[in-house]
Amino acid sequence: MEEYCSLSPLHIERGQGCWLWDAEGNRYLDGNASIWTNALGHNDPDLNRVLLDQVGKVSHSTYLGLSHPAGAKLGRRLAELSPGNLTRAVFSDNGSNAIEIALKLSFQYWQLVDQPEKRLVVGMDGGYHGDTFGAMSAGSSESFHGRFKPWQFDSRVFPAPKCTEIGGTIVSQDMNRSLEILESILGEESERIAALVLEPSIQGPAGMKLQPLGFLKEVERLCRRYDVHLTLDEVFVGCGRTGPLFVCQESEVEPDFLCLAKGLSAGYLPIAATLTSESIYDAFLGDFESGNGFYHGHTFTGNPLAARVALESLTKIGRLIDSGQLSQTIDYFGKAFERTIAGLENVSGARQRGLAAAIDLVPSDRVGPWRPNDRVGLEVCLAARKRGLLLRPLLDSILVVPPLVIENEEIDFLFANLKEAIRTVMKKKSI
Ligand SMILES: Cc1ncc(COP(=O)(O)O)c(C=O)c1O
Repeated sequence: MEEYCSLSPLHIERGQGCWLWDAEGNRYLDGNASIWTNALGHNDPDLNRVLLDQVGKVSHSTYLGLSHPAGAKLGRRLAELSPGNLTRAVFSDNGSNAIEIALKLSFQYWQLVDQPEKRLVVGMDGGYHGDTFGAMSAGSSESFHGRFKPWQFDSRVFPAPKCTEIGGTIVSQDMNRSLEILESILGEESERIAALVLEPSIQGPAGMKLQPLGFLKEVERLCRRYDVHLTLDEVFVGCGRTGPLFVCQESEVEPDFLCLAKGLSAGYLPIAATLTSESIYDAFLGDFESGNGFYHGHTFTGNPLAARVALESLTKIGRLIDSGQLSQTIDYFGKAFERTIAGLENVSGARQRGLAAAIDLVPSDRVGPWRPNDRVGLEVCLAARKRGLLLRPLLDSILVVPPLVIENEEIDFLFANLKEAIRTVMKKKSI
């Protein structure tokens, strides 16, 4: 907070398309898609229309014990769009909760089928699933959650595979070691393991760490072999971020739980969904006395305004995908990213997949990393801000996550100004 308060505040007052305006009328390209949520641009006329229509009907009515058309339609649409037998949804209002719900459903499921000893969770190194305690325990992000370890529950962690990709070219990959260690964990303890939780394709908050193609399918195979629930956290990668609507669909993988949030309402309103299968749902049935029901819910579960916007947003993202527009944008973005990296010194690593990219910065002499207080990532983002570009750093890495509807000229603007911001800060730091 000391650092934040020492910087000049930036109050965003309005938005249009991929741009945001501050209270003084300065314009910025939203290169962070408002923390990875904004898919269709700001102030989208169609999303505004359905939202206002719903405001005129009812803004909130509980989904606990009641229903409403927007929520019911959204549940049905998600069941149609998601792979396999994911026919049931539990709604909540953020990504962490979507994960908590998957964990709790898995925990309770194994009790309901007389295997209560199955309650361990396996996660992948670097995994980030949110800031609530269950989500922290399933993840393994030392920088975000290390402090809270003593209160987290026991879990197992397997190493992430290494993979680099820019402009669609996979530069290196190493997944066998990761899968072998996963298999040894599952083999040794499958009778105690309830679920595996994974961000498929990209570990976003770890710095856009990519997985090799085929990795997810292998993880699914191991989960099936050892009877462990496969929980996919598509909070970041879902809803078109990497090209398809859902990563699991493209990879022909059928998870037991699929967690969606962020882009689900295109960044308009908080809504999340935990999808699961009919067979898991069935285990929770029974009369009141059985106590089988999942007796948890949140106040704004399935909020009708958010559900209406999510329905419209899924339709519009579907059109972007089906028309080929999204894949053209991704192609252009990948090539522009590649050119940007090629023209920069001080880069120790760079990755891009879909509309998500990361650049890791090192000092010119490449002797060791920056010191924590050098705040290189922050300084680059502040320099970019001066040039009309909003980005968010992850320590010494710069993450680029624009709205899905970004246009080619806007991509050019983004990378030209990012490059200049990096050069300015590097020059200053090398003096
Ligand atoms: C992959 C992933 N999972 C879960 C979360 C948590 O979502 P939320 O911040 O909405 O709780 C995030 C947030 O960045 C995320 O990137």
